[in-house]
Amino acid sequence: MYEIVRKEVLNDAAYEMDIYAPQVAKKAEPGQFVIVRVGEDGERIPLTIGDYDPQKGTITIVVQAVGFSTKQLEALEVGDSVTDFVGPLGVPTHLTADKKHVIGVAGGIGSAPVYPQLKKLADLGVKVDVIIGGREKQYVLWADKFAQFCDHVYIATDNGEVGTKGFVTDVLQKLIDDGEQFDEVIAIGPVIMMKNVVRVTKPYNIPTSVSLNPIMVDGTGMCGCCRVTVDGKIKFACVDGPDFDGLTVDFDELMARQRMFKEEEHYVDEHADR
Ligand code: FES
Repeated sequence: MYEIVRKEVLNDAAYEMDIYAPQVAKKAEPGQFVIVRVGEDGERIPLTIGDYDPQKGTITIVVQAVGFSTKQLEALEVGDSVTDFVGPLGVPTHLTADKKHVIGVAGGIGSAPVYPQLKKLADLGVKVDVIIGGREKQYVLWADKFAQFCDHVYIATDNGEVGTKGFVTDVLQKLIDDGEQFDEVIAIGPVIMMKNVVRVTKPYNIPTSVSLNPIMVDGTGMCGCCRVTVDGKIKFACVDGPDFDGLTVDFDELMARQRMFKEEEHYVDEHADR
């Protein structure tokens, strides 16, 4: 069993937890994920690692309560435990000091997986900036944490409550138009956001890394559920990713596959006992 040692409600839909899992924390690297299960019959929930502390033995996860299982996890409090906490899974992000300027683009809970990647780049001496987006102020996550090492923290909200009124892509396009040079863009958030970031970066051929979140079951390359098409080839996000070259990802296929079990998910969320 893996104990929840800290829990913080971030907004009306998302929460952050530190889970005590020393073996996972010892090996975790930016870009990797864990699979969490609540109860013996629980669904396996893949979650990208937001932060990790090998000294304390903790992993930080940020979860959006959108369905039955994530709401089941949300109901747990400090001192409660999850049944399984498997990881770190996936390929760590290839982060090197050979870039001059990298910008992260984080949508909603995408702030969590962007954070360790930019932090590592900053530690390597790379200049890093971030654009954080959310529908309104409460959904703009981790701005303070990014400010500790980013040169600029840009914010975009749909309603203009904080930062630029508009989308993260509006901010990114303006920075490019103003002459900013980026060696790489790291975009993580809703699939539609990542697709639109690529729409901005592709004409300039700016390398763009995205983290894909297809439906997963085993997380070890056995079931094939997480297949995505990248550069015309089938890849399994759990073992070949979750990071991929965004310029070559088939986002439309990914969105269609994510919708496949929407009805069933909705039914379970409405009818199951928690
Ligand atoms: Fe089964 Fe990736 S989750 S192959």
